[in-house]
Amino acid sequence: MTPGADEAIARDAGDPLAAFAAEFHHPYDDAGRKRVYLCGHSLGLQSQSVASYVEQELEDWQRLGVIGHHEASRPWISYHEQAAAPLAALVGAQEIEVVAMNSLTVNLHLMMVSFFRPDAARNRVLIEKSAFPSDRYAIVSQLAFHGLNAREHLVEIEPREGERVLRTEDIVERIDTQGDRLALVLLPGVQYLTGQSLDLAPLIAAGRRAGAVVGLDLAHAIGNTLLHLHEWNADFAVWCSYKYLNAGPGAVGGCFVHERHARRSDLPRFAGWWGHDPATRFRMGPDFSPIVGADGWQISNPPILSTAPLLASLEIFQRAGMRRLREKSIALTGFLHRLIDALLPGRVEVITPRAPDERGCQLSLRIARPPAAAKRCHELLSAAGVVGDWRDPDVLRLAPAPLYNSFHDVFAAVDALSQAVEA
Ligand SMILES: Cc1ncc(COP(=O)(O)O)c(C=O)c1O
Repeated sequence: MTPGADEAIARDAGDPLAAFAAEFHHPYDDAGRKRVYLCGHSLGLQSQSVASYVEQELEDWQRLGVIGHHEASRPWISYHEQAAAPLAALVGAQEIEVVAMNSLTVNLHLMMVSFFRPDAARNRVLIEKSAFPSDRYAIVSQLAFHGLNAREHLVEIEPREGERVLRTEDIVERIDTQGDRLALVLLPGVQYLTGQSLDLAPLIAAGRRAGAVVGLDLAHAIGNTLLHLHEWNADFAVWCSYKYLNAGPGAVGGCFVHERHARRSDLPRFAGWWGHDPATRFRMGPDFSPIVGADGWQISNPPILSTAPLLASLEIFQRAGMRRLREKSIALTGFLHRLIDALLPGRVEVITPRAPDERGCQLSLRIARPPAAAKRCHELLSAAGVVGDWRDPDVLRLAPAPLYNSFHDVFAAVDALSQAVEA
């Protein structure tokens, strides 16, 4: 047997979370073979329970019409509130600090409207040079909205010459140097391309020490790594729910606003009726009275049909428990790294840091070949039924998700990858 196969079988047999995989729909290829799905960093799999959550809403709408706002089995009027406790648990927050709403970039804009308040002296934004493009577009457009520009007001951090990932001390030093010119620091929880998990506590502390607002993009971190947003004192965070949260394509995202901002009436915000105090919302008065906490940043009433899969997913996270998931994830991705070392020595560079607290589920690989041949490897891997993804010019991303992937999936993926590299 190929090295690693026995270990995979033994570890699956001892995995206390193994049964969760059967709660998900796994994709199949045209020949009816189950695919090895290692793409939860892009779009998580659908749980079996999603259909019943969505059907319940369709049924309630059929049966009740408008009365469903109050009498649906999960009343629509307060529907989003059901996501608060499980989301708070996932990001390490109080319930009033989180809200499920909109999508990530929309939430980022809403947060910047309130928290990016540049003045003549403090008007710069610090991000990473290879930030997800949508974040950069959002920031540059907000700079322009304030009459500022990327050339003078965007501070971009990147890894040291010859290195692939960021160093905490370099980011802290840059924040310290920028000091009172920094209005906003926006950092990822897990970097989308390299899979690096940033050490957020000291980075948030440095940003706040400089007097800047600190915001986080948790697209690749929520449902993946352990987060303590309240304790870490981040000002705001935004996320999407279609990756590790498995809430479906374009699912409703979310937002964290630290409790210290919960009652601030001095903050400008783009208001809408769903952010208004529900006790007086239907008096339809002219003056906006925001809900205390993150709920007060809502604008419109939530899309019930696309929030239903999120509730289905959060129920699974509550049962599995984020700590246990993270424990399995560390083992699963560690196994992936070890197998790559063993089966592909010198053929593949793993860009993602090896230390468990510097990564989440994902490993980003560079195949040591010319780019065209490396991309061909990805195509062969796909043809062999392994679903990862490719980011130009040369990065292959694979992410075993502890809810639905097994150690055997990891073994099968590396086995297929070594055959693809040989070919
Ligand atoms: C790191 C990161 N930020 C932002 C986004 C944009 O998300 P949305 O389309 O929900 O605005 C994505 C999408 O994949 C992402 O990976």
